[in-house]
Amino acid sequence: MFTPISLGGLVLKNRIVFAPTSLGMRQEEEIKKLSAIAQGGCAMVIVGDVPVGKHEYLSLFSHSGFQHYQQICQAVHRHECLACAQLHQSNSNLSGMLKHIPDMIFKKLTQDDLRRLMNEEIAPGITAMPAKKIREITASFGPAARQAQEAGFDMIQVHGDRMCGSFSSEVFNHRTDEYGGSPKKRAEFAVEAVMAVRRELPHMPIDYKLAVRQENPHYGNAGVLLEELSVFVPMLEKAGVTSFHVTLADHSSLSDPIPPKNHPYFPMEGCFLPYCDEVRRYTKLPVCGVGGLTDPEFIENQIESGRIDFAAMSRQLIADAEWPNKARQGQCQTIHRCIRCNQLCLNGMLDHKGVHCIFDRTDSN
Ligand SMILES: Cc1cc2nc3c(=O)[nH]c(=O)nc-3n(C[C@H](O)[C@H](O)[C@H](O)COP(=O)(O)O)c2cc1C
Repeated sequence: MFTPISLGGLVLKNRIVFAPTSLGMRQEEEIKKLSAIAQGGCAMVIVGDVPVGKHEYLSLFSHSGFQHYQQICQAVHRHECLACAQLHQSNSNLSGMLKHIPDMIFKKLTQDDLRRLMNEEIAPGITAMPAKKIREITASFGPAARQAQEAGFDMIQVHGDRMCGSFSSEVFNHRTDEYGGSPKKRAEFAVEAVMAVRRELPHMPIDYKLAVRQENPHYGNAGVLLEELSVFVPMLEKAGVTSFHVTLADHSSLSDPIPPKNHPYFPMEGCFLPYCDEVRRYTKLPVCGVGGLTDPEFIENQIESGRIDFAAMSRQLIADAEWPNKARQGQCQTIHRCIRCNQLCLNGMLDHKGVHCIFDRTDSN
């Protein structure tokens, strides 16, 4: 865990990174939280959901957005920690949602209804999108990556869920043109997005959040079926990806890719690592495991055995930012181990109260 690793030429001081996590906090609070996570000893912080668009909230192209990301990068760099921007394109089909506005205004829809309707609108939006619009979106990953580099980010992660994942999946993508129909054509959107970053920044390490889905039982709606990895992984590698961040795809229930301890199918430590085993069959690039990782000895064993090259944690580093320092200093018994209750982290985000942890009170004592 505590040996350096090179990702596309960028050297990480150890093999622990903070997984992309939208914190839903005020900007100063977010910078403070990410700074504390960096100080806790991880090698890199991945900043979740950085939009590629120019007109989004906290866009890299707005003065306030750019400044915010600059401050995050400066704050984490102070602790010898690197910063990676997760470039994200939402797949919300806003025009498809217009018909629901009256029900929203009169509060006839719950948050759950809204999420269900947004999901129902993804397939029509993806399937009907004009090819010209698609090319504009994929091309926009390039200038966004340039802005991210100028703000101070050391690495780019292309978010392979959301719009990339929706194009990848035949659940959402029913197109019959060059962007749909076969796994190769469904990979085209993601490939173009990665190539746009590579063209703009020839030397930038590019991580790809590879969202995997499975049938029997069915988990994950966006993303790539296990049986399709043999097509997607080599294509993404050829396009310029330098490492893979492997996890379960989204758009079913958020508690599947962020599984609680009592999840019926993903209750175990390192619950998505079997997907890494599959990805390994098709690439020699570094593979990052994520999902239900909390135990230092378990993670050490997975890295030592070569099953994964590095490990990402979201909820565990929210629960205890000092996890890496404590593990390195042999003080594992003092770690606040994440119990994957999702009470104040995932639910804090969904309730618009910011991401917190049941251990927060313990920390301030
Ligand atoms: C509150 C919260 C916000 C998240 N936000 C993002 C995000 O912005 N982008 C993303 O790709 N994944 C996001 N995730 C998923 C995490 O990166 C990670 O894959 C998932 O939580 C499983 O890892 P863990 O068991 O270490 O928490 C989020 C997770 C949580 C708990």
